[in-house]
Amino acid sequence: MKILITGSAGFIGFHTAVMLLERGDTVIGFDNFNEYYDPKLKDARNKILEGYDNFTIIRGDLKSNDDLKKAFDLLGGGEDTRVCHLAAQAGVRHSIKNPDEFIQDNIQGTNNILELCKERGVGGLTYASSSSVYGDNDVSPFQEDHKCDCPLSLYGMTKKTNELQAYTYYKLHGVKSTGLRFFTVYGPYGRPDMALFLFANWITKGEPMQVFGQGKMQRDFTYVEDIAAGVVAALDKNYDYEIFNLGGGKTEELMDYITTLEKALGKVGKKEMLPMQPGDVVSTSADISKARKMLGYDPKTQITEGIPKFVEWYREYYQI
Ligand SMILES: NC(=O)c1ccc[n+]([C@@H]2O[C@H](COP(=O)([O-])OP(=O)(O)OC[C@H]3O[C@@H](n4cnc5c(N)ncnc54)[C@H](O)[C@@H]3O)[C@@H](O)[C@H]2O)c1
Repeated sequence: MKILITGSAGFIGFHTAVMLLERGDTVIGFDNFNEYYDPKLKDARNKILEGYDNFTIIRGDLKSNDDLKKAFDLLGGGEDTRVCHLAAQAGVRHSIKNPDEFIQDNIQGTNNILELCKERGVGGLTYASSSSVYGDNDVSPFQEDHKCDCPLSLYGMTKKTNELQAYTYYKLHGVKSTGLRFFTVYGPYGRPDMALFLFANWITKGEPMQVFGQGKMQRDFTYVEDIAAGVVAALDKNYDYEIFNLGGGKTEELMDYITTLEKALGKVGKKEMLPMQPGDVVSTSADISKARKMLGYDPKTQITEGIPKFVEWYREYYQI
């Protein structure tokens, strides 16, 4: 297959690209290398991807149709082409202070992608949604058909909007799509704005860790290679219109996540217990039975295995 991955220099895009390149697919990467977090990490991921002969990077912005057209020109159209749309402005807290960026990048950007998928006759689209769409749904574990029209963050709202945009393009224009609701992804080359990375930085520097929700929050943590396998399965299956939860299959207490990290780092951190932040939800728990059945999705990595792999990478990358 020939696949255009938006957000290829990002955390999940990078791991997905490696998996596709390793099995011999042709991958066109697309990313604007924005400065939401250290672009050196994006360059490092991209350098690895550029080591593959079957990879080409287009540096461009989702908001620019001219930039996107360069990537779609390389992709072409037809049965064997796919778009894997992972580029987005991420971060629940960042979305509260920067609503415009989220509307432009996530909603307008996704519409530009859908229009070009339609125009060029692309074989199918797989795109990133998020567990944030469940908002204040309190029926746990979350199932794909649960109510998710009450998001608690602007970020969650943009992701739910993406699902609606995709639905409309399928109904009106027959653009096939699969939306993947990712649940707190972690692992090597992870995002520096996410909890695991922040905790690791605070612990290694001996600074107090900010533990929100008094440490009582629960998350369905998902190891990044399990997620990438789910994304690849969605690209391969190429359903007409589906939404899947992709979670780790087990809900963990935040304090257990921290203790596992401390063990892997060999150091116990000081903790500053703080209340929940606006936009946060107390617990996310994924029902992944639909993805198991229809995608053959089978997350295997527990935090006791995944966190030490993150720490190994973190120590090597930052020479700690
Ligand atoms: N990591 C998680 O736990 C998680 C959970 C739920 C959903 N998601 C979603 O998964 C996708 C990938 O997330 P990630 O963790 O890899 O994030 P990331 O920030 O590491 O990757 C996103 C990439 O998209 C690029 N990008 C952003 N705006 C762009 C634009 N306008 N034009 C071109 N490129 C642009 C960024 O430079 C970045 O490299 C996102 O859509 C995110 O919302 C992630």
